[in-house]
Amino acid sequence: MKHQDIFSKLWADYTKLNPSVQKVYDLFTNLGETVENDHIAFRTFNDKRVNIDKLAKVFINAGYEEKANYYFEEKHLVAKHYEHKTEKFLPRVFISELILEKFSNYLKEVAIKTIDSIPVELLNGDELIFSGSSWSVPSFKIYEKLKSESEYAGWLYVMGFRANHFTVNVNALKQINTMEKVNSFLKNNGYKINAVGGEIKGSPSELLEQSSIMSEIIKVKFEEGEKEFPGCFYEFAKRYPDKNGTLFSGFIANSANKIFESTNFKK
Ligand code: NI
Repeated sequence: MKHQDIFSKLWADYTKLNPSVQKVYDLFTNLGETVENDHIAFRTFNDKRVNIDKLAKVFINAGYEEKANYYFEEKHLVAKHYEHKTEKFLPRVFISELILEKFSNYLKEVAIKTIDSIPVELLNGDELIFSGSSWSVPSFKIYEKLKSESEYAGWLYVMGFRANHFTVNVNALKQINTMEKVNSFLKNNGYKINAVGGEIKGSPSELLEQSSIMSEIIKVKFEEGEKEFPGCFYEFAKRYPDKNGTLFSGFIANSANKIFESTNFKK
């Protein structure tokens, strides 16, 4: 699959599921800004059939390569980021996976059963990253049980494989060109910023600043009926050059750790 097709397909699913994301995009472009993507992110389990390497395949085939690894001790996650070998304008791809061995037998069994019911052609093909929750209608009761151990596991069980977030490259914005300006622009337009650990994660000295709006609350069909649920969110990132003048291209685990909480569901 060509990279253009991968990203337009992911964007189409993301904006259809979370209409507010398209509205945020339009707010920026209506000001004459060009919205470029810094990175897009995916979530998965560390089961071989669906793990990071498996989800990365479609990107590797489109010319991406692995760049770095990350570890999130408290959330029991590992992650890798990928960049395109030659087309530097293309977004980075950040894929994390939940380390199932760190959780209860209940959570492990639900994860394995869920993966068992993914159609084989999806597991063997290139379309897994677009397939959402192909396993069946989720149960809200199971979601709540998973969430009591891992919010990430609960979200993944309900939402499945899709872009968890796209990220606006703030370096490419002309007027709203600082994180402070981005956040106040979003707040003035009625969006809620993820405030875990402060609204801006990271700092110029860490060479990366990030912020995000909380996931849009969407309607999801559960076994128990339709319910409100946190969908996907939109992130914003500004990168700084190192001492040699090279723009930092990686991720800061401590910041990403807090960005994960943008799908938290508080009622
Ligand atoms: Ni991100």
